Amino acid sequence: MHFGHTISMVSNPRPSPASAALKLLPLPCGFDGKACIIVAMNGYRHITASPIAGALGAEISGVDVSVRLDDDVVDEIRRALLDHLVIFFRGQTLTDASHKAFTRRFGKIFIHPNFNTGGGDPEIVRVVRAPGDERIVGEEWHSDTTMMPEPPMGAILYALEVPPYGGDTLFANQYLAYESLSDGMKAMLEGLRVVHSDIRVAGPAAGLNARRSIKVREDSNWRPTESLHPVVRTHPETCRKCLFVNHSYSCRCANMTERAGKPLLAFLMDHGHRPEFTCRFRWEPGSIAFWDNRCTKHLAIHDAGPFHRRMQRTQIAGDAVV
Ligand SMILES: [Fe+2]
Repeated sequence: MHFGHTISMVSNPRPSPASAALKLLPLPCGFDGKACIIVAMNGYRHITASPIAGALGAEISGVDVSVRLDDDVVDEIRRALLDHLVIFFRGQTLTDASHKAFTRRFGKIFIHPNFNTGGGDPEIVRVVRAPGDERIVGEEWHSDTTMMPEPPMGAILYALEVPPYGGDTLFANQYLAYESLSDGMKAMLEGLRVVHSDIRVAGPAAGLNARRSIKVREDSNWRPTESLHPVVRTHPETCRKCLFVNHSYSCRCANMTERAGKPLLAFLMDHGHRPEFTCRFRWEPGSIAFWDNRCTKHLAIHDAGPFHRRMQRTQIAGDAVV
């Protein structure tokens, strides 16, 4: 089924409300000309944010995230996250302790219920891909862990070992996904809720452990977690609306027959990753991606061929979806 007629593109793909507001303020005293230009250009004093695509994503430079950062710097990183939805750092060196310490500057660490298979540190998920793996984690477009009543607000993924090519990650801007829908479609989605479940990504029925290096809970005591979320959510910090459905977790529309709900859900999920809503990040050892899980989706490209890929991820606790 086609819903193509419902799409109308927005003119400004990435308005940055936080920085735009700051640009209207008088420049602080005591800055030399160069600093003033930087402040005027991107609104940051301690970091530089260089966008990597029209829709979302920026590389952040000028900061070593392994050390205890001043509150002002953390505030700017958080603002950059709100402005660009996913931010990247290069050439970082993290230990488990510094990875967790950096994560905690943005909230409480979320402990994943399915990757917590016993042993190891429950606050860090080791994302390992080995040659011969038939499946990898996150190979479908998804936001993380949305079966939870309060899905994580974000994740911080750090690369230890990456392939010489392949294994990139795609991200998609879900504000744009929502804003580019027609008024008619937006009206239709008002009040619509969708069931999110982890039945396809964990547990014995998913059967993923035999086909990939990273393991999830598959024990007989495992039960699926389900939550009902609005299909359009309002971001708690930016107050902007965004689409909130994804291929890994969104199962069915509430209060709708399957025949009616399935094509609508399929359209919304596919619409959310139109190429013009995306960016693509190429990893190097020491790269970090920090995404806002409330307004983005992402996908790990399963093309690392004969190579190893070794990353580690923390997640930050989030709010109920409203
Ligand atoms: Fe993910």
